[in-house]
Amino acid sequence: MKKKKLKFQVKLNGKKIKTCVFISGAGSNLRSLINCSRDYNFPIKIALIISNKANAKGLLIAKKYHIKHKFISSLDKKKFERNCLMELKKNQIKFLCLAGFMKVLSKNFINSFRYKIINIHPSLLPKYKGLNTHKRVLKNKEIYSGCAVHYVTTSLDSGKIIAKKKILIDKNETEKSLGIKVLNQEHILYPQSIISIFK
Ligand code: GRF
Repeated sequence: MKKKKLKFQVKLNGKKIKTCVFISGAGSNLRSLINCSRDYNFPIKIALIISNKANAKGLLIAKKYHIKHKFISSLDKKKFERNCLMELKKNQIKFLCLAGFMKVLSKNFINSFRYKIINIHPSLLPKYKGLNTHKRVLKNKEIYSGCAVHYVTTSLDSGKIIAKKKILIDKNETEKSLGIKVLNQEHILYPQSIISIFK
């Protein structure tokens, strides 16, 4: 099925906010952000991608689109965050998007990066913070699930919600089918939320 092209109304006269995306895995949200950011009127330019996993598939996406990318090991969290802050400063990054980034950032990092950090989460926050959201949602026989974009604060998945998208859970829904449905909505919601922030 052909995906609908998103329409943007934000006019920044060509000036885009230099943004970094943190990833750990497949990078499908990263891909969606890259595609949207190529639109003249989209508010951000993805200038840097950082992965804390050397084999993250998302790094291949970064390579394909010729975007500056780095693997920084997070085994030593302090060192990881120090190196990231250095890279963010060096590249004059003013906005940070977490997209499938599977590490909790410290209070120190969040307070040290003077600009905004946002994240996408595969549940209707404030419900189902943390991991294994689809499993828990199905176990509780919820009627709806979805995804949410929120500001990152020092408490996990708890910052102010920017936008949410609700989806209906089917009778025979599995963790896998729900995961796919939610992820497809994430790819639309994340860019829309970024537009709404800079409107
Ligand atoms: C997404 O569901 C995201 O919300 C969650 O991890 C998944 C990452 O997917 N935090 P991708 O790496 O963007 O494909």
